[in-house]
Amino acid sequence: MLGSVDGRIKQDIWGYKDPAKYFEEPASKIKADAWLVGRVTMQEFSSKKPRPAMKSTVRIPKEDFVGTHDAKTYAVVIDPSGKCHWDKNMVSTEHVIEVLTEKVSSGYLEHLRAKNVSYLFGGKTELDLALVLEKLNRHFGIKRVRIDGGGHVNGSFLKAGLIDEFSLVLAPVADGTIGAPTLFEAEKGFGKRTATRFRLKSVKKIFDDFLWIRYDVIR
Ligand SMILES: NC(=O)c1ccc[n+]([C@@H]2O[C@H](COP(=O)([O-])OP(=O)(O)OC[C@H]3O[C@@H](n4cnc5c(N)ncnc54)[C@H](OP(=O)(O)O)[C@@H]3O)[C@@H](O)[C@H]2O)c1
Repeated sequence: MLGSVDGRIKQDIWGYKDPAKYFEEPASKIKADAWLVGRVTMQEFSSKKPRPAMKSTVRIPKEDFVGTHDAKTYAVVIDPSGKCHWDKNMVSTEHVIEVLTEKVSSGYLEHLRAKNVSYLFGGKTELDLALVLEKLNRHFGIKRVRIDGGGHVNGSFLKAGLIDEFSLVLAPVADGTIGAPTLFEAEKGFGKRTATRFRLKSVKKIFDDFLWIRYDVIR
């Protein structure tokens, strides 16, 4: 993740010419079989065309589907209601996998099948993220997933206790936008949950005055 000193992740007002490079260059050094993002982040990569009506005359069973592909790496999106619309089944060199709940319509499944986008069900109305990881391994042989944000997806994997390592590129900028997503958006208020603690693994100065900090999660 790329974060400001106050933990914010949207770079809209940071004033960098090429903000993507500060995220992408370090991320490319973290090898994984798949990268995974939330629906809001993936809509930056999926189709920008207006979404057509997705009605189906046939009922498609709520069963996992592996689309034809020859990619070796994957782009996974947590999209419980099926809001991403696809022109093709790839983002860059990665084959797209939609993680859905059974709330989605047959029309949406028909759309994914027509584009050969793979999908799996992670729950009836809510997602079981441990099950999602198990299915990614079972259907696609994925062993290592790089969770690439945004804050809500990071927060839900954090809350489920499914993060082993955390990589942060700390940008020398204070953002201060109240309500903008932060690195981890898990829960409102101080409930019974305790914060996740990390152990420092490495820290490196990059791009002159950014810090690349890597942590292990303390179990
Ligand atoms: N600085 C960085 O390194 C970095 C990295 C990635 C993204 N970003 C930025 O972060 C922003 C988006 O962050 P965000 O936190 O608003 O959104 P996000 O995490 O990308 O997506 C959140 C959405 O994903 C779905 N979702 C996530 N976890 C879920 C769960 N456990 N169960 C059910 N649904 C789940 C929900 O979709 P529904 O609403 O459809 O239910 C939720 O609203 C974008 O502006 C993006 O550019 C920054």
